[in-house]
Amino acid sequence: MDIFTALETRRSIRHYTGEPIDENKIIEAIKYAMYAPSAHNSRSWRFILTSNKEHLLQLSKMHPYAKMLPDASWAILFCNDLNAEKTEGYGALNVAASIENFLLAIHGMGFGAVWLGIYPRKERMTMMTDFFDLPDYLMPIALCSVGVPLNIPPQPNRFEPEKILKIYK
Ligand SMILES: Cc1cc2nc3c(=O)[nH]c(=O)nc-3n(C[C@H](O)[C@H](O)[C@H](O)COP(=O)(O)O)c2cc1C
Repeated sequence: MDIFTALETRRSIRHYTGEPIDENKIIEAIKYAMYAPSAHNSRSWRFILTSNKEHLLQLSKMHPYAKMLPDASWAILFCNDLNAEKTEGYGALNVAASIENFLLAIHGMGFGAVWLGIYPRKERMTMMTDFFDLPDYLMPIALCSVGVPLNIPPQPNRFEPEKILKIYK
């Protein structure tokens, strides 16, 4: 799949067949996540990967919009390492950029994923910190649920030229 097709056809995938995905595939997608831009090239992203079925079930009960997790093959917790963040506030943006790379890589591999919001909701961040027993310097940013797609939703037209507010020449 070329990059433009990937960009235009990626959708959030919330229904999975339940089939497993090999760990190496997930690591490969994480590799692409690590190619994202980051402030001062700080690469402050950190990743926690779980395919543990009990984890997936517990996480689905904790997060209000994560009912798909028990059918997923993996959940990835994307974190920001505050010790690696060079300018306060940029770390979450670094991680967000890595998440988008990850979602596109997963899509390009023919799998499906959805971003489950954690940051900046304090209660969800605390839940993740407690659940994964994270040290203080790791800031949970988002969970991604990953699985083999049950169906691929169509891609609506998302180009809204009116959102380009000004073009200076
Ligand atoms: C910061 C953020 C938080 C999100 N949180 C959730 C979530 O908790 N649960 C969920 O099902 N989707 C979540 N999404 C996915 C969006 O709902 C989805 O990207 C949006 O509806 C557009 O659909 P698409 O990804 O298929 O293009 C989140 C996306 C972002 C960027």
